[in-house]
Amino acid sequence: MTNEIKVCMGSACFAKGNQENLEFIKQYIEENNLDSVITITGSLCENKCDIGPRIIINDKEYTNVTTQDLEEILKGL
Ligand code: FES
Repeated sequence: MTNEIKVCMGSACFAKGNQENLEFIKQYIEENNLDSVITITGSLCENKCDIGPRIIINDKEYTNVTTQDLEEILKGL
């Protein structure tokens, strides 16, 4: 099964942490050879910047995401 990760690339989410989060996800995929089972795409601002940084994983929305959160989430995929 392929997992789909959508990272909000709007300026607020990006500045609040998604820049680091995106790097973290890319590195995690590379280190664990997961590029065939995880796809990453960018999404646009959906005016939920106050609860950002936002990341959608398999249609589930995560808010205020940190790299620690991501580590847990990615391990569980
Ligand atoms: S920048 Fe992500 S919701 Fe606005």
